Amino acid sequence: MQRIHNAIQLTGLSDDDLAELYAYPVRLDRPWVRANFVSSIDGAATSGGLSEGLGTPADKSVFAMLRELADVILVGAGTVRAENYGGARADPRRRRALYDRGLGGHRDGAPPPIAVLTASAAIEPGSRLCTDASATPIVITTAAAPQDRKQQLRDAGVRVVEAGDIAVTPKGLLRALEELQLRRVLCEGGPHLFGELLDADAIDELCLTTAPVLVGGTARRISLSAHEFHTPMARRHILLDDDGTILTRWARR
Ligand SMILES: NC(=O)c1ccc[n+]([C@@H]2O[C@H](COP(=O)([O-])OP(=O)(O)OC[C@H]3O[C@@H](n4cnc5c(N)ncnc54)[C@H](OP(=O)(O)O)[C@@H]3O)[C@@H](O)[C@H]2O)c1
Repeated sequence: MQRIHNAIQLTGLSDDDLAELYAYPVRLDRPWVRANFVSSIDGAATSGGLSEGLGTPADKSVFAMLRELADVILVGAGTVRAENYGGARADPRRRRALYDRGLGGHRDGAPPPIAVLTASAAIEPGSRLCTDASATPIVITTAAAPQDRKQQLRDAGVRVVEAGDIAVTPKGLLRALEELQLRRVLCEGGPHLFGELLDADAIDELCLTTAPVLVGGTARRISLSAHEFHTPMARRHILLDDDGTILTRWARR
């Protein structure tokens, strides 16, 4: 592992090195929320309307490792609809090995489920989320969401959890994840969900990829919220790839 002023060259890191660099805290007594985003150098969260347009090989490797480590992938319904989210794929041997080392993963090697936050429950039962998943997808929604939509999702094999009346508060969301015993939380966005969780001081860390590209245009940034806040963060590491990609890990101070 070659260190240059606290930065690490990605080339030469093994999967085990990466897993250690991104391990969740060992003993968790509550959900620990890690967010993962990619941004262009000029701060865009999308290119061509999707985050995929910003992905680089290094970003894809870390994205996959973060999924391997997590108990659950939390995502806002806007992202699920925009990106046509399917279930997570994971290597069962790797998930078991990570579990045995106490870094994350899963005892039986199962992939982490996707948990979608939606006030409206407006998720298509025929969408990839429901039809292309090997772990039971979870929809965290409200009592006010139309009953027929919730029933259609249940019929499509989704676990529907009501965690609020007309919206789900960050506290209600974390309580629902705790009740499901899902503590290693990987939040993959989008900007509205991330901004709301930041505003409520419910984000423990941010993994941010800066893709070596400028995109201009009117794309959003990675966090959007009703109020401005000032959350100091501490740098945990910087990984550098040869193509210019910079991968950072930031923890709440
Ligand atoms: N650069 C990146 O790494 C990255 C990552 C993710 C996404 N993205 C991009 O971001 C865009 C989508 O993000 P977005 O900000 O528009 O949407 P989002 O944050 O993914 O989802 C917003 C939706 O989540 C639900 N929601 C949020 N807060 C809620 C609450 N308190 N209670 C209940 N439901 C709640 C609502 O769903 P309902 O409307 O169903 O009620 C809301 O419309 C896409 O273009 C995607 O490609 C980029």
